Amino acid sequence: MSELTEWAYPLAESLLAEPLPRRWKHSLGVAERARTIAPVLGQDAELLEAAAVLHDIGYSPDLAKTGFHPLDGARYLRDVADADERVVHLVAHHSCAWMEAEARGLREELEGEFARESAHLNDALCYCDMNTTPDGTPTNPVDRINEITGRYGPDSLIGTFIRRAEPEILASTARVLEQVAAAKRQPM
Ligand SMILES: [Fe+2]
Repeated sequence: MSELTEWAYPLAESLLAEPLPRRWKHSLGVAERARTIAPVLGQDAELLEAAAVLHDIGYSPDLAKTGFHPLDGARYLRDVADADERVVHLVAHHSCAWMEAEARGLREELEGEFARESAHLNDALCYCDMNTTPDGTPTNPVDRINEITGRYGPDSLIGTFIRRAEPEILASTARVLEQVAAAKRQPM
């Protein structure tokens, strides 16, 4: 483990494991997916794994403020945890957060406060999140989106957001799959 992952796991665990055990299992699963795509991440593999295990800390009752978890999580990482800014940026923008932010009237706030990391890294985190069930086991993006819609309801804010985000999520995860396939053809 690197310094970054050694710091990230216990922090995420301290915020999620007790109040939200299922969310914690999901987070561990997302981090596990990150390890499976390490070959396409190169020197950013540890960064992605750290962001993966932390991506949902904004749900923790210890730090939830606005109720929009990417923003709450990123603010906590920046202001309280003094995190590496690339981890902060990835958490702020994870899995098409800007679209949900727009639905909540928080898009300007989110984008004004937090820069975006490269599309490659954002795709990678979206891939890991969308290929992991709420229990942390592997799934695929289509089933994951259906599960989210079913859980929150198709007409809810989240249900509407995830349907609108679906093409972007599928494009994002497809790009990662292409990179994984290319890496297998040409081992680094
Ligand atoms: Fe999330």
